[in-house]
Amino acid sequence: MDQKSARFEEQYRIGQKLVDQLGTAGTESTTFELLGREWDLVPGTYAPGVGAGAEFYTTVIPYPSGGRFLEIGCGAGVTAVWAATHGCAQVTATDITDTAVESTLRNVKRHGVEGRVEVLRSDLFAELNPHDRFDTVFWNCSVIEAPRNFEFAQDYEWAIFDRGYTALGRYLAEVHDWLLPGGRALVTFNTLGDGDRIAQLAAEAGVSLRLLDSASRRLTDEDITYKLFEIVPNES
Ligand SMILES: C[S@@+](CC[C@H](N)C(=O)[O-])C[C@H]1O[C@@H](n2cnc3c(N)ncnc32)[C@H](O)[C@@H]1O
Repeated sequence: MDQKSARFEEQYRIGQKLVDQLGTAGTESTTFELLGREWDLVPGTYAPGVGAGAEFYTTVIPYPSGGRFLEIGCGAGVTAVWAATHGCAQVTATDITDTAVESTLRNVKRHGVEGRVEVLRSDLFAELNPHDRFDTVFWNCSVIEAPRNFEFAQDYEWAIFDRGYTALGRYLAEVHDWLLPGGRALVTFNTLGDGDRIAQLAAEAGVSLRLLDSASRRLTDEDITYKLFEIVPNES
């Protein structure tokens, strides 16, 4: 998107408001409730409360029963823990921020799935074992485009903003390299983001987005429609 356009400015303003409302202030670790369970939260980690995407996506992802699940951008670790307690044999969870990795490690322990969940700090796939492959790869991505020179001041800002949608573009282009035969690549998007831009990024990556599920929720004072997509390679 033209980063000077009025639409860009409006989406960026909403992103900054969400950062202010959903970021974890203070220095004390805390807990939150979601999906009928209690979760640990290390200060700096984005807290996925009621109405946030995690609540919807976590319950509708087609988890690979008895298979290997990779979650990119695990945040507090809700989806990764859920996957491990809902049929996945092995889960790998990554996030680019230290606080998300630490929150996920605590929640893996709290929910007793240490043996089945590996947690890594990684920029997308960078720190994975290059030979690892998965039945399902999922990213509840950061949907608001930030200027390319945006400086992240807090870890939880990574849960809202993507500089020039460069991380999303790389994810769409690289995700199929990490799948086992017959595996599925998933991504989320929502109406706070720029739908035209994700369509353009998909086209550039040679993939199509097939809608699997969607739901509308209210988060703070925004009405948001959350969408879960399967990423399908275009026929060459
Ligand atoms: C919308 S949040 C989702 C967090 C969590 N999965 C949830 O549903 O609540 C996006 C997550 O992706 C992480 N992230 C952003 N850019 C990333 C990157 N390049 N590599 C890995 N994780 C990234 C953020 O730190 C954040 O935790």
